[in-house]
Amino acid sequence: MESGQDWHSAKALLEWHIELGAVDAIGDTPVDRYALEPTKPKAEKPAQAKVDAPNRAAPTPPAVVPQIDYVALAKQAAAGAKDLDGLKAAIKAFDGCELKKGARNTVIADGNPAARVMIIGEAPGRDEDIEGKPFVGRAGQLLDKMFAAIGMGRDATMSKDSVYITNVMPWRPPSNRDPSPEEMAMMVPFLERHVQLVAPELLVLMGNTPCLAVLGRKGILRMRGNWDQGWGKPAMPMTHPAYLLRNPAAKREAWTDLLEIQSKLRDNA
Ligand code: URA
Repeated sequence: MESGQDWHSAKALLEWHIELGAVDAIGDTPVDRYALEPTKPKAEKPAQAKVDAPNRAAPTPPAVVPQIDYVALAKQAAAGAKDLDGLKAAIKAFDGCELKKGARNTVIADGNPAARVMIIGEAPGRDEDIEGKPFVGRAGQLLDKMFAAIGMGRDATMSKDSVYITNVMPWRPPSNRDPSPEEMAMMVPFLERHVQLVAPELLVLMGNTPCLAVLGRKGILRMRGNWDQGWGKPAMPMTHPAYLLRNPAAKREAWTDLLEIQSKLRDNA
């Protein structure tokens, strides 16, 4: 389609739409909906004279659509997963969460399932949605650097030095918005089963969303750096690497938190 835009502006506009979460082009030409004729309200049918119809059957009441309890279904599916492969299959098969429809990939985990540390983030962003792996964008690169600084990483050959990484949500929320309480309630049973199956020594909760999912409360700037207990594991809330990219001064506190994690692992060794 020809347009008055030059190539560079058109490319920038397209990238902006992708950044906002657009995943499909639904037409070849844009529709200016403001210029469309407003649809006229349908003319009312003239009232018909009522005829006595003593034998006519009573109108059927509108069908009651049964509400599906997706949280209960999620709990059932998660409990039925006997191992990590079973859990991955159960998450991929779960259709209760609308976010799945807009996502390119179901992003489940990366790293070593035998790791001592399980890191839980919020949800995939654009890069993770494309690659199908958690924490591969800019925030993920910082996360890798942070753990490398205490000698740990997702690709470490020794399981004692490795980390296992997942997110509360396996699907990218549009425009990277926070997941809604309903969306989280459906996915938390899978996350809890994930923690049971991986059985790490400790959890690292990156930001408010995993604090809410695992500990039932948020307030990351107050909670960070203090050990808590989540699903029977010591849990360390930390500020999310995306926050650290925006607030580099907070990296100093994050470093203290990493040293605290290292010290706990040494004490437990
Ligand atoms: N932020 C997250 O919380 N998780 C990811 O996988 C990427 C960015």
